[in-house]
Amino acid sequence: MGPEREALLQRLADSEAQARAGGGEARVQRQHERGKLTARERIEAFLDPDSFVELDAFVMHQCTDFGLERQRVMGDGVVTGHGRVDGRLVYVFAQDFTVFGGSLSAAHARKICKIMDHAMRTGAPVVGLNDSGGARIQEGVASLGGYADIFLKNTLASGVVPQLSAIMGPCAGGAVYSPAITDFIAMVEDTSYMFVTGPDVLKTVTHEIVTKEELGGADTHARTSGVAHFKVPSEEAMLALLRELLSYLPQNNMSEPPRRPTDDPIDRECTSLIEIVPTNPNKPYDIKDVIRTVADDGRFLEVHEHYAGNIVVGFCRLDGRSIGVVANQPAQLAGCLDVNSSTKGARFVRFCDAFNIPLLTLVDVPGFLPGTAQEYGGIIKHGAKLLYAFAEATVAKVTVITRKAYGGAYDVMNSKHIRADYNFAWPTAEIAVMGPDGAVNIIHRKELAEASDPVARKAELVSDYRTTFANPYRAAELGFVDAVIRPEQTRKHLIDAFRSLENKRDENPPKKHGNIPL
Ligand code: HXC
Repeated sequence: MGPEREALLQRLADSEAQARAGGGEARVQRQHERGKLTARERIEAFLDPDSFVELDAFVMHQCTDFGLERQRVMGDGVVTGHGRVDGRLVYVFAQDFTVFGGSLSAAHARKICKIMDHAMRTGAPVVGLNDSGGARIQEGVASLGGYADIFLKNTLASGVVPQLSAIMGPCAGGAVYSPAITDFIAMVEDTSYMFVTGPDVLKTVTHEIVTKEELGGADTHARTSGVAHFKVPSEEAMLALLRELLSYLPQNNMSEPPRRPTDDPIDRECTSLIEIVPTNPNKPYDIKDVIRTVADDGRFLEVHEHYAGNIVVGFCRLDGRSIGVVANQPAQLAGCLDVNSSTKGARFVRFCDAFNIPLLTLVDVPGFLPGTAQEYGGIIKHGAKLLYAFAEATVAKVTVITRKAYGGAYDVMNSKHIRADYNFAWPTAEIAVMGPDGAVNIIHRKELAEASDPVARKAELVSDYRTTFANPYRAAELGFVDAVIRPEQTRKHLIDAFRSLENKRDENPPKKHGNIPL
């Protein structure tokens, strides 16, 4: 090779080395000392080995204010490109905190927008690894414009390709709205936080004194606000979670989720379910035991595990097919629907419907949670979200009523009337306008007031009501329940049902978009 060609290659190698160096050794060391990986290390750990193809490694900002023309770092604080997860294409960006604190300049934003455009054209998921000080302060409105460009692309990509956000450092100010528009947010405990206004501003404006962790740490958002769908103890756990989550999802809204072959027999009897529902209707049990018992290999990836635990949502597989599960949880608030559980359920249902993931609904719901807190909190509009989401969903929809299905909550929880395909009930199901106690108090009020022994008479009436209504047979007579099944055969029935629905086609009337009660 001649010296001229050698010099050309040397220039390329030098540029590559500069780009790889990010903000320099000292800043990389500081990142490591905080228990954080660098952007490139995260990408390496996330993607299949040697699959990353980087784009725009040499992009630099064009800002000349505040002496920034003397501080230009290749890549400009974000590493972007594509790679593979389990052999499937995925676009990824990882903000590099070692360069200007990962802050977002116009050039940085253009890099993110570029891979989002690629993802939309090729129909592949976008994964963002966020670790940023927010808007690049020296760039002013150019940076704000960059954010808005990303928000628009997030919105247009919503429902077209899955978008996952990992929060692995700061994420503050308006910057939170890009993750908020994406499908899932996961946060690393202790090292990540999200808030619109930070503790310092709070102190001056509202005089509240609160730490970053309390205001917007992983626990706060996973448990209290519900902004985060997942919290994980480490960065390694985060990257493993993202891979697992992707394994349940299709590449885009025109494709199906991947099938994962299993040795778990399709007709496996689930004998532990025979006695899982206690004979005392007020005694709780854990609906997650039912989900894990029925699912392939006992695996269930729970979404929003720590938020609104009275409803359980997440992904499992049945006969290798990805299934979205929505289940009332009798072990918390007796499984009542309330504001938080309704919005949690509704968002999950809409995600599954947008991405062709069949829905399994497990019902044990005594009704909507009563009280002023709920009514003032807008349970009417929030409960309507869940109803709307189930009703508009056209994916395969299968329901199993394990015990209570009372009142409006019966209708809401993927009933036959809102286009569920198969509705099963266990023999323990109770389907009626309300529970026996309340019903007897209303319809026999006069008789009870006049009874010589009201307690004994009430017990008799409750027992009569229970025999007549608190069972699945009235609903089965009307065809609202397709079959009363033995609990131990639930897995087999579900797999049969979802198999038969594999080519289901259903449509909603043409419209610009519906008007879900927000
Ligand atoms: C430019 C920034 C920056 C920013 C950090 N840096 N944030 N540079 N714009 N927004 C730089 C620092 O100057 C420093 O550079 C390096 O990144 C690391 O920052 P440190 O402060 O040393 O790190 P640390 O102590 O860990 O603190 C991290 C931090 C803090 C909490 C994120 O830097 C911070 O508060 N930054 C400002 C956050 C902020 O107010 N952003 C604007 C939010 S409003 P050197 O050269 O020393 O390494 C917003 C609006 C978005 O984002 C609106 C969208 C619609």
